[in-house]
Amino acid sequence: MRLDTIPRISLTQLPTPLIEAPRLAARLGLRRLLVKRDDCTTLGMGGNKVRKLEFLMADALEKGSDVVMTCGGPQSNHARLTAAACRKVGIERCILFLGGPDFERMNGNLLLDTLFGAEIRFMVDATVKEMDDAMNAEAEKLRADGRKPYVIPIGGSSPQGAMGYTSGIRELAGQLSDEDKSPLIFFAVGSCGTLTGVTIGCRLFLPEAEIIGISVSRKASEIRKIVERVAPEATELLGIDLPIDASQIHVEDCYYGERYGVASEAGNAAVLEMAQSEAIVLDPIYTGKAMSGLMDMARRKLIDTDRTVIFLHTGGGPGLFAFDHVFRGNAKLLRV
Ligand SMILES: Cc1ncc(COP(=O)(O)O)c(C=O)c1O
Repeated sequence: MRLDTIPRISLTQLPTPLIEAPRLAARLGLRRLLVKRDDCTTLGMGGNKVRKLEFLMADALEKGSDVVMTCGGPQSNHARLTAAACRKVGIERCILFLGGPDFERMNGNLLLDTLFGAEIRFMVDATVKEMDDAMNAEAEKLRADGRKPYVIPIGGSSPQGAMGYTSGIRELAGQLSDEDKSPLIFFAVGSCGTLTGVTIGCRLFLPEAEIIGISVSRKASEIRKIVERVAPEATELLGIDLPIDASQIHVEDCYYGERYGVASEAGNAAVLEMAQSEAIVLDPIYTGKAMSGLMDMARRKLIDTDRTVIFLHTGGGPGLFAFDHVFRGNAKLLRV
């Protein structure tokens, strides 16, 4: 297997902590709840994308790229971390194509994009296809000018990106004692790179684990189609023959509420409960919704509560600061 020979550049201190969450476990009736703190990756305020970017930026450098481009929503954690990674490896230009609802305040991830000096091309209400087209057109122009652009797909969910969580699961397996080696692993699923990497990683390094992906944006059938497409390319990159049957992947698609990017009541409640039981910060768009799935499934005994449960905390904290209005009513504020 080529996992250790695929180009990779260190962007964070590893391993990330794996910590107990005993108060939340007791509230949910779980024997043991562990949180894998990938929100604590040490680049640019952290998150799951750092693991993907270790492989993507190494690929960009190997190809001699001098401009990196990617796309996402205005509060994209992936875009923010791509901008940070460019600074870290010394790539001068980072262009972010951000599409979605218009915004008034440059807060949360947008503020960090600005601090990292990214060039932002804002495309009001653009679809992923429109952002992709805009990126590719820009890349063409840059090539004609003699530059070497490197285009990262939305969420960094390419075969290289998936390597981040194949190695992330190897790291997690090394942190678990024998009695915890058949855990239930919960996490947020967006563009599916994390899910693809975790699926391959579990097959290789934690075969007794059960994955429960909580969708933040798509129906389970769509997610399985994406994994079906990316997983074979990822295993080819690894140089292994490991057929992944995407129809067997456990994805829950009833926890994202109205749609991607819009906070849900259950997700907001999960953000508050996690903060007030464990002092761990989630966000309303990814990790809050993922945690609302874990909480609901535990409380309704839809999972085996005797098994060790691991919540893979994929970050997203900066995005919380674009949702202050959601939590204003929870303030215990007395003007004196
Ligand atoms: C905080 C956070 N969690 C989870 C995800 C989902 O990861 P993936 O896109 O690999 O499915 C993202 C993606 O942007 C994210 O920012």
